Amino acid sequence: MPSDEITASAPATIANLGPGYDLMGMALDRPRDILRVELQAGGVDAITVRGLGSESLKIPAGKNACVVAGRAVLAQAGAEKYRLKMQLEKGVPPRMGMGSSGASSAAGAFAVNALLGYPLDQMHVLRCAMEGERASCGSAHADNVAPALLGGITVITGYEPLNVVKLSPIEGTAVVEVSPRIELAAEKTKLAREVLPSSVPLSKVVGQMAAFSSLLLGIVQKDAVLMGRGISGDGIIEPARAKLIPGFIDVKAAAMHEGAHGATISGAGPTVFALAPIERADAVGKAMVRAFTANSIKSVYAIYQCSQEGTKIV
Ligand code: HSE
Repeated sequence: MPSDEITASAPATIANLGPGYDLMGMALDRPRDILRVELQAGGVDAITVRGLGSESLKIPAGKNACVVAGRAVLAQAGAEKYRLKMQLEKGVPPRMGMGSSGASSAAGAFAVNALLGYPLDQMHVLRCAMEGERASCGSAHADNVAPALLGGITVITGYEPLNVVKLSPIEGTAVVEVSPRIELAAEKTKLAREVLPSSVPLSKVVGQMAAFSSLLLGIVQKDAVLMGRGISGDGIIEPARAKLIPGFIDVKAAAMHEGAHGATISGAGPTVFALAPIERADAVGKAMVRAFTANSIKSVYAIYQCSQEGTKIV
């Protein structure tokens, strides 16, 4: 029997960063999901979930992202005979666009791999974490799980074969997350993916490539203005999803007016985020909340940093 118990912690993330749909994501310095895992020789897989939004995660263990990701590791490592006993403390709020299922999936895959003595390499662990995402929203995208596992800003350069490049954040910038209090469907991400167009005109593709280039080059060249222009320049995903977030256009405009480098939807929403100079972050957050209020929507803002730290044993 391998080492019998471990606790892992995985961070909140922002997926897409505008035009990097399903490809780019960023780890935040907080909040985190904390997952305790035991391997057991018999019985059934079991998980208890506490903390933020845990009441919305009362689903059978076999459908929980942590368990699915952990079980994928057991299968890959030829250790299916073990049963998982998990205790998850949710710090990342579910369904807000902050990578909740990504954090849980990353923690599940990482912790089980650690318990088994690290039989899988990073890319295989990532693939297992993606299975957690699939269980959670029907799509095995990696733009939350990759930064949740690895930290920093991650770019998926290919899915088949899977390849990820990790980049460093730009010093002096802050991430402002503004979360509206709106009614959310249980399958929020699935629905937010269904509103997207299945095909787009070439002119839009060209615009999207320009925005993606700005985003990527801005990060690589440490140019926050260029990065922000990329974040704000998504002409495909953001317009399709904006209608799901009442007041989104005003909230984005408010962020830019207060000096943000760029703003768009955080992951699949409904949280809206802005990249801002640290000294403008508070004013940007307040302006975004005021814009939501003007649209009769209550909201809260928080200021984060991009963190180099991904999933770790605690
Ligand atoms: N890339 C994903 C999406 C992230 O936008 O649907 C949310 O899980």
